[in-house]
Amino acid sequence: MDRRPEQILDEAKDLLAEAKTEQDFETARIRYLGKNGEVTALLKSMGAVPAEERKEFGKAANAVKQEIGELISGGKAALAQSLRASKLMSERIDVTEPGAELPFGTLHPITQTIDEISRIFMGLGYSITEGPEVETVFNNFDALNAAPNHPSRDLTDTFYITEDTLLRTQTSPVQIRTLTSSEPPIKVISPGRCFRADTPDSTHSPMFHQVEGLLVDEGVTMADLKGTLDAFAKRMFGEDARTKFRPHFFPFTEPSAEMDMSCFVCGGKGCRVCKGSGWIEILGCGMVHPNVLKVGGLDTERYTGFAFGMGVERIAMLKHGIGDIRLFYENDIRFIEQFA
Ligand code: DAH
Repeated sequence: MDRRPEQILDEAKDLLAEAKTEQDFETARIRYLGKNGEVTALLKSMGAVPAEERKEFGKAANAVKQEIGELISGGKAALAQSLRASKLMSERIDVTEPGAELPFGTLHPITQTIDEISRIFMGLGYSITEGPEVETVFNNFDALNAAPNHPSRDLTDTFYITEDTLLRTQTSPVQIRTLTSSEPPIKVISPGRCFRADTPDSTHSPMFHQVEGLLVDEGVTMADLKGTLDAFAKRMFGEDARTKFRPHFFPFTEPSAEMDMSCFVCGGKGCRVCKGSGWIEILGCGMVHPNVLKVGGLDTERYTGFAFGMGVERIAMLKHGIGDIRLFYENDIRFIEQFA
């Protein structure tokens, strides 16, 4: 026997002390304990050992086999344990670390303007109601006293869904929905989207927003209309705002008017914003036409009311000095962010 079991064991110990990977342990196992391994060979050589030494030799060889086996399996287990530990370390989450900061969003300027208008009218005791964007032709035109040949009914101006449904061209049909579903006193505003077949340019968009207002009660007069809308203008644009009412025509009001407000940029002297006139057109309004009140089944001798409608984009553009309506719908964060 040229190699003693102890010698093989010492070598194996040195080798295993250097083992770092699963593969290193496997190589060592094959080298010592494999079919042609050194310890296996040692055991196979037992027959050649002189009889008197054989017992001792066998004992030693088996002890070496066992010890190397244990060193390998112990080493493998320790390796697996340390791999698990380093995986845990690398995947560790420090729950005390401050979180990644997400930028705050802002409300769209149109939403902000609707909110501001709504708050002012809620302060005046109005409640908010909403109507559908897909409306009946009846609610959008007929019940609002629009003549059968009114130009706004034209296919070139209005998006029809069917012969008797359309995308509402104004929020005024909410007046009809309110009158047919509730009793006076009525005091509501209704913000929402409207649609017209307009080619987009700096002041037109096929989709835009309006806020409608309707008040119906006993003894309501034009003075109530003027006082209410004047108060609105002052809250919306500042206490210095003055208002004036110009006669106008709307099918669903009689008399009808447009309200102008003294220019909040120049105070009425005349500038670019008011195109030199000192006045800015803000909204349409009037006393609810008896034909409209009748759709709601109301006694027109007993009840009167006023209504108004304003364009939200127009008000937002005036307030913020925005020159092009299309900016509202482009989803450009650099634009939206300015209204934080
Ligand atoms: N619906 C009108 C429009 O789109 C605006 C309007 C004017 C609404 C007068 C009213 C009103 O309620 O009384 O041009």
